Amino acid sequence: MTTNTLAKRPLGNTALQISTLGLGGWNTYGDLVKAQTTVNQIIHTAFDHGVNFFDMANNYADGRAEEMMGIALNTLPRDALILSSKVFMAKDPNERGLSEAKIKRGIERSLKRIGTDYIDIYFCHRYDPNTPLEETIATMGELIQQGKIRHWGSSTWSASQIAQAHTIAHAIGVAPPMVEQPELNLLRQIDYPLGSRREIAKKGMGVVTFSPLASGLLSGKYERGIPDDSRLAKIDWLRNSMQKQLQQHSAQQLKSLANQLNCQPAQLAIAWCLTQPGVSSAITGASRLEQLIENLGAAEITISTEIMQKLDQIYAPSYLKKLKWKARMLLSRMRQ
Ligand SMILES: NC(=O)c1ccc[n+]([C@@H]2O[C@H](COP(=O)([O-])OP(=O)(O)OC[C@H]3O[C@@H](n4cnc5c(N)ncnc54)[C@H](OP(=O)(O)O)[C@@H]3O)[C@@H](O)[C@H]2O)c1
Repeated sequence: MTTNTLAKRPLGNTALQISTLGLGGWNTYGDLVKAQTTVNQIIHTAFDHGVNFFDMANNYADGRAEEMMGIALNTLPRDALILSSKVFMAKDPNERGLSEAKIKRGIERSLKRIGTDYIDIYFCHRYDPNTPLEETIATMGELIQQGKIRHWGSSTWSASQIAQAHTIAHAIGVAPPMVEQPELNLLRQIDYPLGSRREIAKKGMGVVTFSPLASGLLSGKYERGIPDDSRLAKIDWLRNSMQKQLQQHSAQQLKSLANQLNCQPAQLAIAWCLTQPGVSSAITGASRLEQLIENLGAAEITISTEIMQKLDQIYAPSYLKKLKWKARMLLSRMRQ
């Protein structure tokens, strides 16, 4: 087996060097994937190929993802890992949010479930309009001082929320959010707007993106309907929320571009994420070992200028198309 082949990139202004591909547990471990042996196999194989970044959240499978990933991760050297988890989401509305009490309860539970003394990046899973931002930031500062987290970050926060967080953190002498986790894939470029990208770059934050395959859609597996053993067959709300994408996505177009690069559509879709300015790592998901192996191959793909232009023609939202492609590539090279 190949070891440590995956490249690492600096994660914004943190001292962390993160693998270009990360592995997360949403909808999989403890949820659609119940066997601990499968989770161990996928996580250990990822690590053996150089993945050092593993992403969890307090609410994934109601905490079982943290437990199952924790069991697998605890046989690996802790210092070689970048572990992230998240707080905010909860089934119980009284547990949802970013108040001091909820964050402090959340971190203790996550540390216990994962079986670690500290989390490298603790994400605010969403912005909480019901808690003063000062309270959230001061609590994150306390957790850093106590050594329970190394950095804190945001997920899908807007440019103005990020800017405000940095202003407050600076004013109260606490570390600002250092990493943003937006959704980014060929089909969902609009959800990571240019304003956020600019603000994040200005503040020196690292970027790790989620759902590079749009829940598997960009692998082409849904080309002839919904396979019984797929995520969209098993999770009704997700299938319903992706109806438009299911109907509109042309698997053939991506497949033909992937063929020209001698790779699989999933590999091209993930490789595209890694070309985006400022992105340090794309967090993938895998319910089976074969998927992980295929996805790891994305790190080997170099997308030619011609294919990049075709991807833009097919997938870029109109406001992005207006930007000169060469200017964006230049920006991308400057940031990496
Ligand atoms: N911050 C947030 O709000 C947020 C939100 C979502 C995700 N995330 C993070 O990002 C991680 C990745 O997100 P994601 O799971 O949505 O990523 P994704 O790569 O878009 O989808 C992963 C799923 O697609 C299918 N798949 C993966 N590789 C495949 C392949 N090569 N061929 C065919 N099917 C394949 C598998 O599902 P099936 O086999 O079951 O069909 C797999 O579980 C999550 O685990 C989580 O850590 C964060």
